[in-house]
Amino acid sequence: MSCRIAILASGTGSNAAAIMDYFAMRPSTAQTAVVISDNPNAQVLEKAKQRGVDAVCFLQKDYTSKAAFEAAVLQALTDAGADFAALAGYMRLVGPTLLLPFLGRMVNIHPSLLPAFPGRSAIQDALAAGVRKTGITIHYVDSGLDTGPIIYQGVLSVMPEESEHSLTKRIHEMEHFSYPRIIHACVENRVCMQQESVIWRDKLLCECWS
Ligand code: GAR
Repeated sequence: MSCRIAILASGTGSNAAAIMDYFAMRPSTAQTAVVISDNPNAQVLEKAKQRGVDAVCFLQKDYTSKAAFEAAVLQALTDAGADFAALAGYMRLVGPTLLLPFLGRMVNIHPSLLPAFPGRSAIQDALAAGVRKTGITIHYVDSGLDTGPIIYQGVLSVMPEESEHSLTKRIHEMEHFSYPRIIHACVENRVCMQQESVIWRDKLLCECWS
């Protein structure tokens, strides 16, 4: 049965667009059920509407607590029939109200080789630190900031004198290629989380990307 994916995003939504476009071509595998944002001005909302995907915005300030906010988000995921959730630039820690029902079924992407450079400015932080290699990490979500069992990392060499613009562009290209494909592996149970470890059943895919 086709999986129903919810995407949570706070900003531009280029990863959300890559996921929506990838699965629009593979509807028997998965469909994007809903896009949820915590930012009314997020471009991701428009990107969803352009693709005919339901888009909903929830503002935490409209709720008395983070738990109440997340209960509303969880209800939207339930209403959409979502059975998997992908964070794509969702700039908020996920609390237990939302996390526990989706534990092992919620993933995040981050533009560095975690655990190096978590947080909002990973690309700038990596450049400022002068690292020669950086990249992307896709991981199951836990309660921490860009922590959780790592599913996949893609490595890029930082070029001498590389600008933030150039590195950001190369990281985004890698994200847009990799994230939909890793989600594909997750929703087909070719990879899963068991007791905070990542189990790859599809060794070939795992090894050829590592
Ligand atoms: C992406 O680069 C993603 O890895 C990053 O936010 C960007 C969102 O871009 N996520 C984090 O930094 C999570 N800590 P997008 O809105 O164009 O997809």
